[in-house]
Amino acid sequence: MDQHERSVESGANGDTKTSFSEEIELSGHIIDSLILPKVLDEITTLGGEFDIVDINIGHRRNDRSYARLRVTAPTADDLDEILSAVGHHGAVPIHQEDCRLVAADIDGAFPEGFYSTTNQDTEVRLEGNWIAVQRQEMDCGVKVDVQQQTAMCIPMSDVRRGDQIIVGHLGTRVHPIGRDAEGPGSFGFMSSAVSSEKPKGVTVRDIAAAMQKAKRGEGKILVVAGPAVVHTGSREHLSWLIRKGFVNVLFAGNALATHDIEQSFYGTSLGISMEHGGSIEEGHEHHLRSINRIRRAGSISNAVANGVLESGIMYECVQHKVPFLLAGSIRDDGPLPDVVTDAIDAQRKMREMISDVTFCLMVATTLHSIAVGNLLPARVSVVCVDINPATVTKLADRGSFQTVGLVTDVEPFLRVLVDDLQIDEA
Ligand SMILES: NC(=O)c1ccc[n+]([C@@H]2O[C@H](COP(=O)([O-])OP(=O)(O)OC[C@H]3O[C@@H](n4cnc5c(N)ncnc54)[C@H](O)[C@@H]3O)[C@@H](O)[C@H]2O)c1
Repeated sequence: MDQHERSVESGANGDTKTSFSEEIELSGHIIDSLILPKVLDEITTLGGEFDIVDINIGHRRNDRSYARLRVTAPTADDLDEILSAVGHHGAVPIHQEDCRLVAADIDGAFPEGFYSTTNQDTEVRLEGNWIAVQRQEMDCGVKVDVQQQTAMCIPMSDVRRGDQIIVGHLGTRVHPIGRDAEGPGSFGFMSSAVSSEKPKGVTVRDIAAAMQKAKRGEGKILVVAGPAVVHTGSREHLSWLIRKGFVNVLFAGNALATHDIEQSFYGTSLGISMEHGGSIEEGHEHHLRSINRIRRAGSISNAVANGVLESGIMYECVQHKVPFLLAGSIRDDGPLPDVVTDAIDAQRKMREMISDVTFCLMVATTLHSIAVGNLLPARVSVVCVDINPATVTKLADRGSFQTVGLVTDVEPFLRVLVDDLQIDEA
């Protein structure tokens, strides 16, 4: 619990009322990004009160605003809870102190009261200096190396006894993504709403522009894809994107790779002919026979090297040295030998592979979209394409609020995206 200003008021009947207060400040695009109303709402919802001590609202579009508030709560614990909640919106106490560190007492768990991270860029105060937290990720703790003056997000499972972990919110500050995100480093459509009724061509053109920018070396693209990419007959579109250098990293599960390879071996996806759309006799066995053949080869890259696998998404990844990670799930047949079946190990590998990703395109997978969304910092632009609006909504509800949703069938989406990129390439 932090030290707050304590006041005692005496009532007319001799009763006394104790309250605890702290002054906080907020700056940036706090009005048009709706950060100030959110902070005021958090304070009152959590049982506190506020007085606006000072406010300065910018007049022009790019002007920043500033507000200083006195927050009061009936108990110090209530005030701590409020300060922690508003801290996630970038509100910081005026009187700052260094962050508080407690050594982890066991492997694989934080000390009680640990600071729980958001996906927003965060700084922590060490010996009076504000230091940027590395590997920003939601739902982690922060491990500090006092000697090196560094701080980084660490998932619970990676904590080792003796690690210095931040507890409480003191000495931490968050920089929420606001309208600032429209700067030169972003893709320009961060703040578009999720809707099935928006002109899709505009969003597709924005995505194409983002991909071209990355291809020019100004970013790195992660594609997360589900098996509907193959089932709907759009694997050639994704293969083209990989071949032409528009994909820098691919994340998927066993199913995307399996059905892609099934199409290469048998011309089917889940036993359905990709040519005439009808089912093939004993086609339901094709994906198992495909997995078996790759397991016999030892890996997907061995199968490419041996000439066993000669086309498709996974083939293009191997040929063009695009790193991929296939994360396992309880539904998997086989699985393919490349699938990482230990979920924690898969998360670790994914963290390593996303370190410099700037743009993420998620297509037709709820499981992997949400999993990857949880790992990405909020500054990474995310587009999620799915036929079901609930997938996009779930992603945003679980903290990946920067996601732009496109509710559509993946096949026409990828076809139009490739058409746009082909015109530009020409
Ligand atoms: N045989 C197997 O080994 C096997 C089979 C299926 C899934 N799996 C695994 O299970 C896990 C979950 O699979 P998942 O990601 O496919 O399931 P999921 O339910 O998480 O996601 C499927 C998504 O595809 C969307 N979708 C379906 N058709 C679409 C279309 N035409 N256009 C756009 N979106 C469309 C759905 O709305 C849904 O959001 C994965 O790890 C996968 O590899 C394994």
